[in-house]
Amino acid sequence: MQKQMKAIEYTSYGAPDVLHLKDMPIPTPKPNEVLIRIRATTATAADIMMRKGNPYIGRLYTGLKGPKRTVLGFEFAGEVVETGSAVTLFKTGDKVFGGTTTLGSYAEYACVSESDVLTTMPDNISYAEAAPVNGSAITVMNFLKGLGNIQPGQHVLINGASGGLGTYAVQIAKHFGAEVTGVCSTKNMELVKSLGADHVIDYTQADFTKSDKRYDIIFDTVGKRSFTDSKKVLKDDGVFLAAVMDLPLLFHMIWSKITGGKKAKVSATGLLPVKERLNYFIELKEMLRTSKIKTVIDVIYPLAQVSAAHAYVETGHKRGSIIIAV
Ligand SMILES: NC(=O)c1ccc[n+]([C@@H]2O[C@H](COP(=O)([O-])OP(=O)(O)OC[C@H]3O[C@@H](n4cnc5c(N)ncnc54)[C@H](OP(=O)(O)O)[C@@H]3O)[C@@H](O)[C@H]2O)c1
Repeated sequence: MQKQMKAIEYTSYGAPDVLHLKDMPIPTPKPNEVLIRIRATTATAADIMMRKGNPYIGRLYTGLKGPKRTVLGFEFAGEVVETGSAVTLFKTGDKVFGGTTTLGSYAEYACVSESDVLTTMPDNISYAEAAPVNGSAITVMNFLKGLGNIQPGQHVLINGASGGLGTYAVQIAKHFGAEVTGVCSTKNMELVKSLGADHVIDYTQADFTKSDKRYDIIFDTVGKRSFTDSKKVLKDDGVFLAAVMDLPLLFHMIWSKITGGKKAKVSATGLLPVKERLNYFIELKEMLRTSKIKTVIDVIYPLAQVSAAHAYVETGHKRGSIIIAV
């Protein structure tokens, strides 16, 4: 009989309790794949959307009537325990981290193509610190570096500075030499300052769109502010970056491209080619290795409590990343 592993399965879309622990066979790597003993994975907004099958357009990928891939989890850190016959980049025993659109990391073992977004871990970080880098930190690189062309000395505002994207965004903007303003609530001000923000605005006390300051880049990581409000505090050639896409933003993106001046930009990082995401990932690996950035961890849940982790993410008030220890 094939060896068994613990995994979290879901067979229908719905609330966190559709996720349940199950024994299933350990997968066998194809020639170009490595088998990874997963040690840490995450609960993110993307996992929530896939679990709910909402927005509906996402079901074109996840399955129209029910989930096609029944084990969620797209980012991970762990150890290579077996390599396919054609694998050349990794060997058994390598500690690796990465992310895959084929999912499956809510499990003790997962197979990942060696040419996916996968690399060896720097020695100075834990599995828990490595797991969220793929989704959140690559997204920040895509927005600040790719879309925003961030430059030293620029004034950059991060809205949602205490969240999964925000905690990396503050540090990565500082790494690129920007003067950084973080926007968060009272309880997270010390955290955001400790990540290197030069200025912190408490959104429960002040509205940054009404200040006299002007920014080169405003990165709304949490979809809480509009381009119309934010452009009042953008410089004439400034750019508003929005991690959460909606129809008005798409309209502003197209319109501001035609008319010039202050711009709005949106992007779906997961749809970038693997090569582009891998290049950002390698750059982030060096920032982690040299301690230029670190992962902020809120709570670590055991695999059996993934549904509780999902429920917490859905409150919209986590600090940094939610880890699932496997
Ligand atoms: N476009 C892409 O490529 C891409 C990629 C990845 C993720 N995303 C999207 O990005 C979004 C953010 O993800 P995330 O993991 O960073 O979220 P998150 O960690 O769940 O965000 C929670 C944080 O947002 C803060 N927050 C809540 N309301 C706020 C407000 N009005 N103003 C400022 N901060 C506020 C909370 O602080 P308080 O508790 O203090 O309120 C909390 O720390 C998700 O919707 C996700 O789908 C997009």
